[in-house]
Amino acid sequence: MTQKSFPLTAEFIAAANTTAEQYANNYQQSIASSKASDNFWAERAEWIDWFKKPTKISDVSYDLDDFRIKWFEDGELNISVNCLDRHLRNNPYKPAIIWEGDHPSQHKIVSFKELHAEVCRLGNAMRKLGIKKGDRVTLYMPMIPEAMVAMLACARIGAVHSVVFGGFSADSLGNRIIDSQSKLVITADEGLRGNKHTPLKVNVDRALDMDGTQSVDKVIVVHRTGNSIPMSGRRDVWYHTLIGGESEHCEPEVMNAEDPLFLLYTSGSTGKPKGVLHTTGGYITYALSTFRDVFDIKDDDVYWCTADVGWITGHTYSTYGPLANGTTTVMFEGVPEYPTWARVGHIIDKHKISVLYTAPTAIRSMMKEGDTFVRESDRSSLRLLGTVGEPINPEAWDWYYHVVGGGRCPIVDTWWQTETGGILLAPIPGTVALKPGAAMNPLYGIKPEVVDSDGEVLEGPAEGNLAISNSWPGQMRTIYNDHQRFLQTYFTEYPGYYFTGDGAHRDEDGHYWITGRVDDVLNVSGHRLGTAEVESAVDAHPATVEAAVVGMPHDIRGVGIAAFIILRSGEVANEYLKSEINRHVRNEIGPIANLNAIYIVDALPKTRSGKIMRRILRNLAAGQYVGLGDLSTLADSSVINQIIEVVKVEREQNRNQC
Ligand code: PRX
Repeated sequence: MTQKSFPLTAEFIAAANTTAEQYANNYQQSIASSKASDNFWAERAEWIDWFKKPTKISDVSYDLDDFRIKWFEDGELNISVNCLDRHLRNNPYKPAIIWEGDHPSQHKIVSFKELHAEVCRLGNAMRKLGIKKGDRVTLYMPMIPEAMVAMLACARIGAVHSVVFGGFSADSLGNRIIDSQSKLVITADEGLRGNKHTPLKVNVDRALDMDGTQSVDKVIVVHRTGNSIPMSGRRDVWYHTLIGGESEHCEPEVMNAEDPLFLLYTSGSTGKPKGVLHTTGGYITYALSTFRDVFDIKDDDVYWCTADVGWITGHTYSTYGPLANGTTTVMFEGVPEYPTWARVGHIIDKHKISVLYTAPTAIRSMMKEGDTFVRESDRSSLRLLGTVGEPINPEAWDWYYHVVGGGRCPIVDTWWQTETGGILLAPIPGTVALKPGAAMNPLYGIKPEVVDSDGEVLEGPAEGNLAISNSWPGQMRTIYNDHQRFLQTYFTEYPGYYFTGDGAHRDEDGHYWITGRVDDVLNVSGHRLGTAEVESAVDAHPATVEAAVVGMPHDIRGVGIAAFIILRSGEVANEYLKSEINRHVRNEIGPIANLNAIYIVDALPKTRSGKIMRRILRNLAAGQYVGLGDLSTLADSSVINQIIEVVKVEREQNRNQC
């Protein structure tokens, strides 16, 4: 782990919103006591437009017998008013969204006034369809402004949105609709990325053929590519027809601070993806305030977060955080390699982007193509860079810093999770020299701890599991339909703490480095997949009996997926069957679940009680055949040799093919 640090330029420090001293003072004040923390958050809540100001700030207990997380509980507000209406007073014509289409010839600028009008029209139309406060609405959308319009329109009328990433399969979409019992789905005819079409509406039709999706009355379809798609007369309605005659005024629903805002499904270490529930007042206060701090936001910033709206980053830091601050947010429909790998640089120049927030996996894939593409652009508008989603390796950090940012722009490495709602660890720019690969410091009001496997809190430089000992307004409130699982997953491992599922190292300067997941969650290209979820998709293929899935090192994706599979007797292991199994898994979950290595084995290493020893498989998938640790609990240690043979042969073949 490198300890090399990069001081900030004097120019950046001089213009930064926060000084090192301010950070240190504010941070200490924000965590000094629960009273001090409430005072801090009461001040931050002043940045929100409330219908009724909260008089109570926090009411939190992590004690399982008396568990509660409430923030601003008697406050009333509407998030769309905070993201839209209040900016109309001073800045109606400022761009809210700059949309860059898949093809470089297409872009669109939507002002706050225009966005407000469209959100109101859709809000009115949804109300006429019978959607009320508390109803769930599933969004399955490409990266087009209508996706943000739909989120904000839900917020306007108090409906709870559940955005499902457009890259997920019909099955994954269907399962999320079943769990949320959505009344309405909003989608587009097709998605368009890298000139490839995704059959979004066809997937919705397939999902709605699944048992348990009968809650859905209507499907609103945005016209994106114009290719012909099946429309069912009773159920499906075109977006433009629906909102055409609607008024640009829509009375915002009065929401209690603790009313739900959205559900977002994410993978855990066991079972099906869980619906992470975020509420209104705490979430928007946290989104607004962390966005302003971490990205050092100025009025004239043009900010581009490359995340899809299907992920939490696309919620908090593409949509709600920027819009609540009145910041122009850039939305890109396409992919970094289309038409060429120079695209990202061209977009930066075209829209004069000042802050760029992206994922290490995207940085690594651009880096692999060499510097020439990036150097086609001058990128002089950039002043700050950010990363999120996975640990960034020092080479990628260096390249991002020197080549993309021209050595001028600090990098904020931001650590957080779907569950946390917003960033918890990051170097607030201007306050600290950067260490490549470190998420550095806690944000205001956050008390991180490094704990060992016995739950002992470690002091000083330490390595262990990351837990948070207090609450913050943006924290998730429950798992939809499964509060017990919520308590079990996050609050039982270390009683009195929120357990993150990540490992962390705290160095001698007190800075935090995230070392990766310590549970059975894979972080593939910055996206979460549960090993259990991938295994059950492999198991569902008719040729397989059992599978074990583990992560493996991968140059671009950070973590790749390795599957060890036992076939039914009579099935023959060959390349065709393997690609068939891979196709099946991608169909069940979506292309992000691509299997990077498939090993057909006779047996899996299991303990006498039948538990798969994944630790061993992780080592083997990484090509480590010796030093496998204690094998004494294995029911039959001879299986290891057979697996090693299979892995060696496969890896050799792959090497020859490369
Ligand atoms: O393992 C951590 C990793 O991503 C996980 C959260 O994934 P998700 O809920 O999909 O949210 C991703 C975007 C916030 C974490 O448990 N992770 C996220 N950011 C970082 C990170 N790992 C290292 N460094 C980061 N900056």
